[in-house]
Amino acid sequence: MATIKDVSKLAGVSVATVSRYLNKNGYVSKEAELAIAEVIEKLNYRPNTIARSLAGKKTATVGLMVPDILNPFFPELARAIEDAANTYGYTVMLCNTDNDPAKEQRYIETLLHKQVDGIIISSYTIQPGHLSGLQKAGIPVVLLDNVFSSDSVVSLTVENKRGGELAAEHLLELGCRKIAHICGPLSITSSRDRTAGFEAVSAGTDWFTPSLIGYSDFTVSGGYRTMKKLLADHPDLDGVFASNDLMAAGALKALSEAGRCVPEDVKVIGFDGIGLEMLSPELSTIAQPIYELGKTAMDVLVALIGKETGIETDQVFPVTLTAKQSTVG
Ligand code: RIB
Repeated sequence: MATIKDVSKLAGVSVATVSRYLNKNGYVSKEAELAIAEVIEKLNYRPNTIARSLAGKKTATVGLMVPDILNPFFPELARAIEDAANTYGYTVMLCNTDNDPAKEQRYIETLLHKQVDGIIISSYTIQPGHLSGLQKAGIPVVLLDNVFSSDSVVSLTVENKRGGELAAEHLLELGCRKIAHICGPLSITSSRDRTAGFEAVSAGTDWFTPSLIGYSDFTVSGGYRTMKKLLADHPDLDGVFASNDLMAAGALKALSEAGRCVPEDVKVIGFDGIGLEMLSPELSTIAQPIYELGKTAMDVLVALIGKETGIETDQVFPVTLTAKQSTVG
């Protein structure tokens, strides 16, 4: 049986455009209208099929849970999700969990109570068991930045391990010979994979020792504290890979206070690509396609709500090295 994706592909327009056409909600060009109508006819995409997928849309609201709305990564993600939701006629309810499992659980209850049609979750503390209430209620979930290996929850991540390797390789190529790593919460696969990438490149070198890895929490203050400790333990370190840009910003502050020049004495690279233009020196980073991640999360959620089949459960996006002043001067 034809799906909305088949229609969009054959008509040469996005799923969002087909959705706007079906919902009679938002702009669709005359050419697109004609192409969609023709394909619907050709594929026999019957009105009852349409009715069933639309029937999934009960309250036209979806939940978005993020751990820290003050981290610029999440407003950028939320912006993309909201833009995409808007084209589908959905409203997004934002839930900032402050990285607190109890608050997260309360939000899940609230979203269930409000009968949202689906939820996008980015969390440093969520566990498979926390989703059982949603699963029992048949509420589709899209997970960001984390993969539940034993579960069939759809998750979107980036090439985190490759990103960790790229960061370490970049520092080595620039001549660093004692590189420290500030890792993020070990509770999520994204963070663990970045560290695994760093270790894959560093572990075989003559300078590596496990105490060059400092454990932190994806915050500026966490990055600052961890950098101070790493400097105390390894005053001769000459490179730092922080698992996100906020921790890299904290590391820059600690290095500056310790009188180290970046990049001359110590080269620093982060992860995310959140565009912290106010930092001096400007931060090198492993950039994630944040907007694309958010948009895809909403596209996938709408497909799940519409009970489409054949949706990939583990979708991985590429990362890119962006070299700026903190490594290349
Ligand atoms: O900076 C926030 C971090 O949380 C990002 O790296 C993102 O991938 C998420 O894990």
